[in-house]
Amino acid sequence: MPSPASRLCRRVLATFAVTAIALPAALLAGPGTAAATPLAPPAAPKADTALLDDGLALTPPMGFNHWNATNCRAEFNEAMIKGIADLFVTSGLKAAGYQYVNLDDCWALPQRGADGNLVPDPVRFPNGIKSVGDYVHSKGLKFGIYTSAGTKTCADEGFPGGLDHEQQDANLFASWGVDYLKYDNCNNTGTDAIQRYTKMRDALKATGRPIVYSICEWGENKPWLWAQEVGHLWRTTGDIRDTWDSLKSIIQANLPLAQHAKPGAWNDPDMLQIGNGGMTDTEYRTHFSMWAIMAAPLLIGSDLRTTTPATMEILANRDVIAVDQDRLGLQGEVISQQAGKYVVVKRLANGERAIALYNETDRAVTVSTTAKAAGLPKAPAYKVRDLWTKTTRETAGVISAMVPAHGTVLVRVGTDPRWPLYPPAVELGVATPDARALIEPGTSNPVTSVATNHGKLPGAFAKVDLRAGTGWKVKATSPATRPVLLPGKPLRTTWSVTPPAGTKPGTYPLTGTVSYYPGQGKQPSVTTATMDVVVPPPAPTGAAYLSDVPFLSATSLWGPVERDRSNGEQDPADGKPITIRGTVYAKGLGVHAPSDIEYYLGGKCTNVKAVVGVDDEVGDHGSVTFEVWADEKKVAESGPLTNASPAHSLTADVAGATVIRLAVTDGGDGQSYDHADWADLKITCA
Ligand code: GLA
Repeated sequence: MPSPASRLCRRVLATFAVTAIALPAALLAGPGTAAATPLAPPAAPKADTALLDDGLALTPPMGFNHWNATNCRAEFNEAMIKGIADLFVTSGLKAAGYQYVNLDDCWALPQRGADGNLVPDPVRFPNGIKSVGDYVHSKGLKFGIYTSAGTKTCADEGFPGGLDHEQQDANLFASWGVDYLKYDNCNNTGTDAIQRYTKMRDALKATGRPIVYSICEWGENKPWLWAQEVGHLWRTTGDIRDTWDSLKSIIQANLPLAQHAKPGAWNDPDMLQIGNGGMTDTEYRTHFSMWAIMAAPLLIGSDLRTTTPATMEILANRDVIAVDQDRLGLQGEVISQQAGKYVVVKRLANGERAIALYNETDRAVTVSTTAKAAGLPKAPAYKVRDLWTKTTRETAGVISAMVPAHGTVLVRVGTDPRWPLYPPAVELGVATPDARALIEPGTSNPVTSVATNHGKLPGAFAKVDLRAGTGWKVKATSPATRPVLLPGKPLRTTWSVTPPAGTKPGTYPLTGTVSYYPGQGKQPSVTTATMDVVVPPPAPTGAAYLSDVPFLSATSLWGPVERDRSNGEQDPADGKPITIRGTVYAKGLGVHAPSDIEYYLGGKCTNVKAVVGVDDEVGDHGSVTFEVWADEKKVAESGPLTNASPAHSLTADVAGATVIRLAVTDGGDGQSYDHADWADLKITCA
């Protein structure tokens, strides 16, 4: 028997609309600044000289930089840099295109020498910098260095910066054989950024040595509007961290800048964290896929000397690298974005399109597009190559896949007269692509899989299989095979899924496969897909504060949803007491719009009450709208509220709802400073 809990519930992040990619300036500047950064960045500035058109960095630079691996720690030294150069050669990374071996901060002593020159740290670099550069060059690689367009670099130790020493430092770098300079932004004395970065550009030029010039002012002065004339690449965001939240927000910030990238002038969403251990391999594959489709520099930021085979496999994926390095030099454009599902398309020099189906959400969802939407010419069918699974299929036009949570499917699609030679593309998904199956332990729950042939040709002897973890029972209750899987005639199979009694709340994967024969005498083709089912937490009972009840899901733009405190900044538990127009509330939730919080009620509750408003911590900023949804129905809405609005009382009838969703939208005017409070948030249940 289907239980009420097994009904499919509405999608998360429904309010995360296309406009959501305009992030607060604070997000771009990095942590700790949400409430302190001015709202409007300076008006579009202009550099005063001709285009930087010197034939350098015609494709995004590829290489290594030690910063993400070691920061300023002692492991950053000559042995490391030489070891990386060796590995580039022996591991095949050099052959795959990685070229630059770059030093970041902490290579110098805190004081300049008597002649005013920067002095290499003799402990880290006992033979000086030139010798390590020579070593890198001896391997047929290029060598890079770092300093800051300020009085000191960024490290706490305070190494000397290049401000007002531009020509002397550029000359020194050139004399050491430097091929790449990363020029940071710390301790800049408030001097105009364009002036500072242009001065170093001219100094580098005056050395006569070709030096790739990487501007690192964190996107603070909208460098995408002026830096094409100054450097070869420019950071667009604050520093990347080795976390999913950081990766996600950097992708959000960098995607909308596509139009500003071109050969010799690249948006730089920062260096790679792949292999540093803070994310899963699925997330690291997203990192690499999205950097490639965004034509971002690929600077490895993990210590390759101790790397895992999985990391190496990601970094050495030549199909993905080819997307990044495509000589047309276009950054992929978002052609659709809805509820955390992105389709990004990059036109390639041979007429094909790279397409990323990127799932930013916390569970597996279907992400789809078509060859037509991707800008491909009309054709009977197209060739689709999956750049991670390395399979090649034919499609009549639909490009669609079940993408795991935080995952990316990256394909290369084009016309090809030999398309009939490839097996048809068959997708495996769940019946309602935007929904998540809620499953009750110890009882049978129905889940429907759908195998769809997107090809032009039929697939023979199609067979679907679905598996779950140990102790789970999965059984088909309708046919799971079909002699001929025709295009446009999906095979739907209902399964009885029984998690063991006592299974803890959480998201659990079901692994599905569909196998089929593309033609006489051939091997079967197989499509694998992971679908997520959710064992919900227990529903609340009696009268409860929702800040004491476990979430079914929770998202907030800036930092996590905070319980019994305001949003604060990006770190967990860094909020203040919830305060709206001077009134402090002991209980409630603090979020940053856009935010969605779901609770499992199992049909057992009747109403929700809250006092809502913009938190006082944002001063005279912020405007948001609060909504309460009971399953598919909106049952309460606050209307737009600003920091100046009085606290608003919200009551919602949620009788019979399986799931409620508390949503905060940005009020339609951008997300900056949208710190929102669900104060005194109470639910009444049976
Ligand atoms: C800044 C930069 C980083 C790194 C550090 C070094 O934070 O943005 O990429 O270079 O400085 O101190």
